[in-house]
Amino acid sequence: MKTVNSFQKLKDNNEKIAMLTAYDYSTAKTLEEAGIDAILVGDSLAMVALGYRDTYIITADEMKIFVKAVSKGARNTFIIADMPFMSYNINVEQGMENASKMIKAGASAIKLEGCNKYILTLTKRCIESGIPVLGHLGFTPQLMNTIGGHKIQGKTAEMTEEILASAKKLEEAGCFAIVLELMPSESAKYITENLQIPTIGIGAGNECSGQIVVTDDILGKYTDFAPKFVKKYADLHKVVLESVSNYKEEVKTQAFPSKNESFELNPEEQIKLLSND
Ligand code: KIV
Repeated sequence: MKTVNSFQKLKDNNEKIAMLTAYDYSTAKTLEEAGIDAILVGDSLAMVALGYRDTYIITADEMKIFVKAVSKGARNTFIIADMPFMSYNINVEQGMENASKMIKAGASAIKLEGCNKYILTLTKRCIESGIPVLGHLGFTPQLMNTIGGHKIQGKTAEMTEEILASAKKLEEAGCFAIVLELMPSESAKYITENLQIPTIGIGAGNECSGQIVVTDDILGKYTDFAPKFVKKYADLHKVVLESVSNYKEEVKTQAFPSKNESFELNPEEQIKLLSND
């Protein structure tokens, strides 16, 4: 997938959109090789790659470095940069300035959380300036402190209608797709069926137009916590732990490096070297 139009094409062709996160060059390269439809440089990297307590701490300038690395690794994949907490909430100019940093770092689009009058204005301004916007509704981690924790959204028909109303506003403002996070499958299905643009689910069942998850979660690499909606496709933590333990053992016992991993001085030079003693 190379352009923003590919999202709508996939939805219209009834093909699910498979997205993943990436924060570094080599992961991005592998995702591109696997044919992942689009990559999100999510602000989840604050916790997963930088070990921050939550995603509140990361800044746009820090995000920029990861966007650069990912865009170098996946030159032919559509890359979306997450706008971190408070990098777009002060005023439209601040939002535009930070959005432009992400595009200059190599992203093709940005993601904004939530939907209020201000977000709608910023979304329109970004799109008018040539920056496509991915919306994000349902559980929005940047509002976690006001929501009061990781809470499932859209748990009633009324709450689902409210999310749909916001989604319609984002669609009207020009978002090319909307992430729906942490809600019952039926709610996400209802919202998806009532929108023209695609929805990308995370913990929102399999009736969305596509899915996104944190790559480190599905690879079993990030072990601090595992949300219920994550399926583990590998246990990289185990693989890495075993490998580095073996390496350590082989260094201690001098099994590594062996002749295979070493360079040899030619015999003449060896004699000269010894005769210098
Ligand atoms: O930060 C992130 O990784 C996200 C998710 C939607 C995966 O926002």
